[in-house]
Amino acid sequence: MAKGFFISKTLGIVGILFAVAAICTIITLSVLYSEEKNNNKQRLEKPTSQIPDTEATPAATAPTTLDPSLAWNRYRLPKSLIPDHYTVKLRPNLTTDDRGLYIFWGESTVRFLCKEETDVIIIHSNKLNYTMKDGYHVSLKGVNGSQPPQIDSTELVTTTQYLVVHLQSKLVVGHHYEMESTFVGELADDLAGFYRSEYTEDGVNKVLATTQMEAPYARKSFPCFDEPGMKATFDITLIHPSDHIAISNMPVKSSVKQDDNWNITQFDTTPRMSTYLLAYIVCQFEAAEEQGRDVQIRIWARPQAIEAGHGQYALNITGPILDFFADHYNTPYPLPKSDQVGLPDFSAGAMENWGLVTYRENSLLFDELSSSISNKERVVTVIAHELAHQWFGNLVTVEWWNDLWLNEGFASYVEYLGADFAEPSWNLKDLIVLNDVHQVMAIDALASSHPLSTPEDEINTPAQISELFDTITYSKGASVLRMLSSFLTEDLFKTGLSSYLHTFSYNNTVYQNLWDHLQQAVDRQTAVQLPVSVQEIMDRWILQMGFPVLKLDTTTGVLSQQHFLLDPTSNVTRSSQFNYQWIVPISATKKEGGSYSGWLSGDESAVYDQLKVTNDNDWVLLNINMTGYYLVNYDDRNWKQLQNELQTNLASIPVINRAQIIHDGFNLARAQHIPTTLALENTLFLENEVEYMPWEAALSSLSYFQLMFDRSEVYGPMKNYLKRLVTPLFEHFKSLTNNWADRPPTLTEQYNEINAISTACSNGIVECGDLASNLFKQWMNDPSNNPIHPNLRSTIYCNAIARGGEEEWEFAWNQFLNATLVTEADKLRSGMACSKEVWILQRYLSYALDPTLIRKQDATSTIISICRNVIGQSLTWDFIRANWKKLFEDYGGGSFSFSSLIQGVTQRFSTEFELQQLEQFEQDNMDVGFGSGTRALEQALEKTRSNINWVNENKELVLVWFNEHSN
Ligand code: BES
Ligand code: ZN
Repeated sequence: MAKGFFISKTLGIVGILFAVAAICTIITLSVLYSEEKNNNKQRLEKPTSQIPDTEATPAATAPTTLDPSLAWNRYRLPKSLIPDHYTVKLRPNLTTDDRGLYIFWGESTVRFLCKEETDVIIIHSNKLNYTMKDGYHVSLKGVNGSQPPQIDSTELVTTTQYLVVHLQSKLVVGHHYEMESTFVGELADDLAGFYRSEYTEDGVNKVLATTQMEAPYARKSFPCFDEPGMKATFDITLIHPSDHIAISNMPVKSSVKQDDNWNITQFDTTPRMSTYLLAYIVCQFEAAEEQGRDVQIRIWARPQAIEAGHGQYALNITGPILDFFADHYNTPYPLPKSDQVGLPDFSAGAMENWGLVTYRENSLLFDELSSSISNKERVVTVIAHELAHQWFGNLVTVEWWNDLWLNEGFASYVEYLGADFAEPSWNLKDLIVLNDVHQVMAIDALASSHPLSTPEDEINTPAQISELFDTITYSKGASVLRMLSSFLTEDLFKTGLSSYLHTFSYNNTVYQNLWDHLQQAVDRQTAVQLPVSVQEIMDRWILQMGFPVLKLDTTTGVLSQQHFLLDPTSNVTRSSQFNYQWIVPISATKKEGGSYSGWLSGDESAVYDQLKVTNDNDWVLLNINMTGYYLVNYDDRNWKQLQNELQTNLASIPVINRAQIIHDGFNLARAQHIPTTLALENTLFLENEVEYMPWEAALSSLSYFQLMFDRSEVYGPMKNYLKRLVTPLFEHFKSLTNNWADRPPTLTEQYNEINAISTACSNGIVECGDLASNLFKQWMNDPSNNPIHPNLRSTIYCNAIARGGEEEWEFAWNQFLNATLVTEADKLRSGMACSKEVWILQRYLSYALDPTLIRKQDATSTIISICRNVIGQSLTWDFIRANWKKLFEDYGGGSFSFSSLIQGVTQRFSTEFELQQLEQFEQDNMDVGFGSGTRALEQALEKTRSNINWVNENKELVLVWFNEHSN
C-alpha cells in the first residue's frame, strides 16, 4: 500500500482536515475509532506495503490475542447469512489525487437471506474506507416491507478482514435484508483486487484499472461474502472516463454519458457465481473480434498489439477450443460472450474470470514473426486451461479452497486435450508426462510433501489459501486425473463428468461428488470393471502424499510396491490411514509381444505370471505411456535387456517410455534403489536418439547433476560426456535445418533442435558457441534487423551474452527496454542472466527490484534466472538474504513467486555450510515470515540435506563413470 493511505490515528486526526478523496468521500474519525475498537491496534502501526496484508501475515503467527469464540475473529464466515444478489457501482480514478494516490470510489448493496438467527452481520472487507452514515459504516433495509433491526455499532476487523455490523436485535430467519455502503479504496499497483496497471504508448504513460480476485481479493474491491461457496448474482456498473472502455463478466447493458468526462456503463446481471470469478476493467484497449458465432469472442490488448495482429492467434483458436469443451462436457458454453484480455501487469499467468479471462501479455499475444513456437504452445495451453475452467470451476465450483486441487488439477489435465484439439499436429498430450508428471514427482517424493486433498478445517487464512496454489495442486492433480481417465477410459470419464456438471451447475461441490458421478457411470456399463470403487482407488492417491515405486522381478513375476522417497533416510512424520499403499493400475508390454493390464493392491507383493519372462532375452516394460503416477524398478537382468533394446532397436519402445526409463532410472538412483551408474547407462542410447521426450527427460535429470557438480571437478568430465552424446544430435539438426537456416517441421522436433543447440553450446562444442556469437554480432551491427529465428533466440542470447562482455549486455538491455513484444523482452531478460561478469550480474539483480526497470510481475523470475547461472548463485543468495524483508513486502503478493524464489535460490545447496546458512536464514526471518513460501523453505531444507548425502555418496563414482564414457 502506498504511503499514507491508511493513516495512523494521530495522522488521521490531522488528515481529516484534507479532502480524503477527490470525489468528496470523507473518512471520519469514527472510522479510525471503530477500527481500533476491535483491539487490532497492530493494523494501525503496520508498516505500509505494496501487497495485501494477508500475504505478509504468515499463517503461523496469526495474532493469538483474538478471542475465537467471537465469530468475527474466525476466518470462515458463519453460515447464518447467505447472499443472493449484489449491485456494485465503482469508479476508478485513473489520475492521482492531490496526495499522489490513485483511488477508486464504490457503492454497493448486498441482499442476503437470514438462515439462522443472528444479531451480527459479518462480511469481508479489506483495505476499504467507508463513508459513515449516521455514524455507521453501512445502512440496513428490510426486503418486502420487513423492518430491519437497529444497528448498534459497526467495526472493521482487519486481521480477519471483516466489516462487522452489531445489531440491537436479531435478524429473522427466512427474511431478506439489504445492506448498503459507500467506500473508497486505493487503486494500487499491487496486482490484487481492483488494481492499476500502466504502460507507455508513443511515449505517453497510460493507466488502466483491472481486477484479480482469486483467491481472497474481491473483498478489496467491495464488501462481500468472499467465499467460493457463497454464490450470488451481480449487477456491475462502472463509471469511467469517456475516452476509456469498460468490460466485465457480462455484456454491456447500457452505456450513457454522466457528464462531459465520464460515462456510466452498466452490465447485464451475472448468473449465480462466486466472488473470486468477478472481473472488471477500465482501459483504452482495442479488440480483435470474430464474427458469425453465437458466442461473441473478443481478444483485447493494447491498441498497438491488436493493430500488429498479436491477438489473431488467440482469436483463431478460442472458438475451436470453446467448441471442444462444450462437446467434452456435453454442456453449452454458459455465457453469452467470451472476452480475453492481455494485461501489462498481472501476477499469475492467467485468470479464468467468468466471461472475462485475464492474461499476462506473454500468455495471450503471439506474433508470427518474432514469437517462438514455445510462445505459441504457451498461448494455446493457457487459453485451453482457462476456458476449461469456464465450466469446471466456474459453472460448478468447489465449496471451499481445500478442494482447489480438483479445480486446478482438472484444468491442468484437460488443457492438454483442448490444446491438442486446436493444434492436432503437435502431439501435445504426450507432453503432460514431462511438464507435469515428472515435474511434480520430484517434489512429491519428499517427506515434506503433502496430500493433494486437505481437510476443510486446515485451510482458513488467506496465506493458507495462497499456499495451496502449488505444484502438487496443479501437476499432481493433473497426473492423477489423467490416470483416472486412463483406467476408466476417456469416454466413461466424460459420461460421469457431464452428469456431474449437469447436476451441480451454478452450485458448489466437494470432490466426492465427482467420484459419485464417475461411479454411477461405471455402474451403468460392463465394459470397464474396477477391482473396487472409484473412491476406494482414488482416496489412496489424494489423501496420502507421495506415490509408490513398483518393483518387478521378471524371473519370478513378483510385483510389489513401496512409498518412494527421494531421500531414503528422511523421516516421514505424516501418517497415512492407508499405510502408504496404493491401488495401482498396471499396464505392461513384453518384448516377445503381448500386453497386460491389471491392478496391484496394497498387499505386500503378489505373483503375476503374465509379467514373468519366458527366456533370458525377453524384457517387460511397465507403465505404458506413463499413464500411472508411479515409478518402476526391475531386476538387474531386465534393466540390462531394456538398455540393450534401446541401444539396438529403440523404436520398439514407445517414445514416452524411452523418457520414462531415463526419468525413473535417475530417480531410483537418487533414492538408492539402483546404482547411479545404471541410471547413467540408461542414457547411452541417446547417441542414436533424435526424439524430444527422451532427450528432455535426460537433460532435466542431468540438470540435477549439473547443479550438484558445476562447482566441482566432476563438471569437466560430465561436460565431455554430454558433448559426446549431443554431437550426433547437433549434426542431425544442422543437416535437417540446412545449416540452421530452416526450422524442422514438427513442434517436438523444433523443441529438440533447441535442446541440441543449448546442450552443444553449454558443453563446449565450439562451432555452436561461434554460431551464437556470430548471429548476435550480426544483430548488433544491424539492430533493426534481428537475424536470429525466434525459436533460437533464448538460447542464442544466453550463449552470446555468456561469451560476450559489457557491450553485448548493454545491447541486450537496450533492446529489452525498447521491446514492444513481451515475448521478445522475456527472452532478453532471461538471456541477460547468462553473463559471466559478476559486476554485471550484481547490477542486474538491483535492476530486478526497481519496478521502473523491471515490472514487479517479472522480478522473481529475473532473480531466479540469475541464480540459475553458477556465477550468479552466491550473489543471488546474498542478495535475497539482504533484501528478504523488502522482497516479502513488495513482491509477495504474486501467486507462485515466493515458493519458486526459495526453490530457485536453494537448488544448488549441497554442503553443510549451505545448510547452516539456510537454517540461519530461517531463524533470522522468523519475524518477517515466509508466507506462501513457508512450505518451500521446509522442502529446501529437506532437499539440501538429501543433496549433501547424495553428493557424498556419488561424487567419486560419477566422476569415474563420466571419465570412462567421455570418448
Ligand atoms: N486460477 C488460476 C490463476 C491463479 C493462480 C489465481 C494463482 C490466483 C492464484 C488460473 O486458472 C491458472 O491456473 N493459471 C496458470 C496458468 C495455467 C496454464 C497453469 C498460471 O497463472 O500460471
Ligand atoms: Zn487454473
